[in-house]
Amino acid sequence: MKTYEFELGLAARRLVKDILDVQPDEVVGITADTLSNEEVVNATARAVFEAGAKPVVIWVATPDGVGKAADPMLPQKALIGALTNVDVWIEFNYQWLLYSTVFDTVIKENRELRYICLVGMNPDMMVRTIGKIDMKKLSEFLDKIAEITQKGKHVRITTPAGTDVEFDNHPERPLIVHSGYVPKGTYEMLPGQISWTPKLETINGTIVFDGSVYPPIGLLKEPIKLEVEKGRIVNIEGGREAREFASWLESFNDPNMYQLAHISYGFNPGAKLTGNIVEDERVWGATEWGIGNIGPRLVPDIPGGVPAASHTDGICLNSSVWIDDVQIMDKGNVIYPPELAKLAKELKK
Ligand SMILES: [Fe+2]
Repeated sequence: MKTYEFELGLAARRLVKDILDVQPDEVVGITADTLSNEEVVNATARAVFEAGAKPVVIWVATPDGVGKAADPMLPQKALIGALTNVDVWIEFNYQWLLYSTVFDTVIKENRELRYICLVGMNPDMMVRTIGKIDMKKLSEFLDKIAEITQKGKHVRITTPAGTDVEFDNHPERPLIVHSGYVPKGTYEMLPGQISWTPKLETINGTIVFDGSVYPPIGLLKEPIKLEVEKGRIVNIEGGREAREFASWLESFNDPNMYQLAHISYGFNPGAKLTGNIVEDERVWGATEWGIGNIGPRLVPDIPGGVPAASHTDGICLNSSVWIDDVQIMDKGNVIYPPELAKLAKELKK
């Protein structure tokens, strides 16, 4: 018996119906590479067919890199030709096409496309992070906590591992909510995350990564402590992994690699710390800091965003959060306001 062979069917149906709202006769492109999970791909194609729609599954050899680094190894014209003519594109590639030339061209030319990035998906992760989740309730919860957070001016976050950091929100910058809703002409990620970029020069304090940091490491064996002044990392402490992280940042010889880029909340009730950053950054009650390059979507007030040689994300588990001195989370649990705490409890059942 293959892992979660029965349960995977429901997870695929939730993806196709609840998240992507696939309609009869729509064409759904499913892309994968030779490191993708075949059971996940086939279960999804089956659910698409069952919905009365037309699956097109495209397998490619796994490129050596992701995004634009994958370009030379991809059958670009064939992928662009096919994917500009689908209604929905589900990406299961292991070395992702997201931000590759194929992706950029398809997004530009196929203006009604609904795209979702589910890189590194396997049956276990799909059952936990999609199959067992009440997507409507999750979406309601995420919209509410995003609204409360956006209304706040000042945010403080602490964790048991020693994080104690604060910042001011920027009134013109959006909170990007990955809620499990994919409207036409948008690209989406696995549900259960909210990201935003605060006023950079107001970020001060200590950030302790105690979950994972990727690139360059993955799951952490020991914490990495960052001292942050006015939005920049000024000191890195810890053991061997902290030294590895520090020399990785240094290797770019780019001062913007010390710039904090975004903060994110993780809120997928099924996510667990596995070393796969897509899942780790959705662990319930975790906060994540992005470092380096800042995409234009996060900072509409800065045309073109803030360029840097690369980008990395690190996870702080069991976060406590205060918005304008009102505590809304305590060590990973949502405690205030009561209706939000109630929704959180129901989602975590
Ligand atoms: Fe990030």
